[in-house]
Amino acid sequence: MPSMLVTGANRGLGLEMVRQFVDDGWRIYACCRAPETATDLAALAAGSDGAITLHTLDVGKPAQIEALADELRGTAIDMLVNNAGLLGCTIDSMGPGAFGTVDYEAWMQLHEINTMAPLRVAEAFVDHVAASDMKLMFFMSTYMGCITELADGGLYPYRSSKAALNLVVKGLSIDLAPRGVRTIAVHPGWVSTDMGGPEAPVNKEQSIAGIRQVVANYGSGQTGCFYQYDGRELPW
Ligand SMILES: NC(=O)c1ccc[n+]([C@@H]2O[C@H](COP(=O)([O-])OP(=O)(O)OC[C@H]3O[C@@H](n4cnc5c(N)ncnc54)[C@H](OP(=O)(O)O)[C@@H]3O)[C@@H](O)[C@H]2O)c1
Repeated sequence: MPSMLVTGANRGLGLEMVRQFVDDGWRIYACCRAPETATDLAALAAGSDGAITLHTLDVGKPAQIEALADELRGTAIDMLVNNAGLLGCTIDSMGPGAFGTVDYEAWMQLHEINTMAPLRVAEAFVDHVAASDMKLMFFMSTYMGCITELADGGLYPYRSSKAALNLVVKGLSIDLAPRGVRTIAVHPGWVSTDMGGPEAPVNKEQSIAGIRQVVANYGSGQTGCFYQYDGRELPW
């Protein structure tokens, strides 16, 4: 049974990942800041026959990352999913990131959660991943962090935090190659979650169904690539 650890598993894309991957037969370590209020996730876990367990993890708290890595020491994790993330504004009020109105305090927080925390999680769990069959580190990125095809300005904090995450993903692919650990950055589409808003053209079910295919098709020799949920390989 393949296993995955997913951050931000209580709602949105993280919760849908748990829902679909458990149906595919995965063992899931589902992490969120407050398991005691994660009712949808708890309901999934209750019906999973032990395949889903809930774990407290605020990715902005290094001590919690270390504590969970210690608790799961000796457990192989086939796919480490860094999904938790922040936009820093609502999708229809992108003002705080626009030129001339940048909120630098908020930018620091986005950098901490979207860029630094995934690297911290990767450092803490590298042994767990290296001990698995699949040895994959998955990072939820975004097309908004794609520099080559950038067509709009604004949203500097979010875009740059994810562009920097992309660099982390590529760098890890080089650093971890000797251990056989592979990385992938994925753009889930513009998805109707709390973050994506109700106008988004893609729903969670479609996005994660596509991501399951992307993961299934990711060859054992591939690492450090950037894919969209529909299978298109993206430039950095
Ligand atoms: N939706 C889109 O259109 C879209 C597009 C491109 C990329 N993405 C990326 O996809 C990922 C998931 O987004 P989503 O649409 O599912 O967003 P969402 O519905 O807003 O959910 C965000 C998740 O991240 C968690 N989170 C935030 N800060 C955290 C922290 N410090 N520690 C642990 N968990 C934390 C949230 O937990 P709480 O409930 O505790 O806040 C929640 O589970 C993000 O990385 C996002 O950047 C989304």
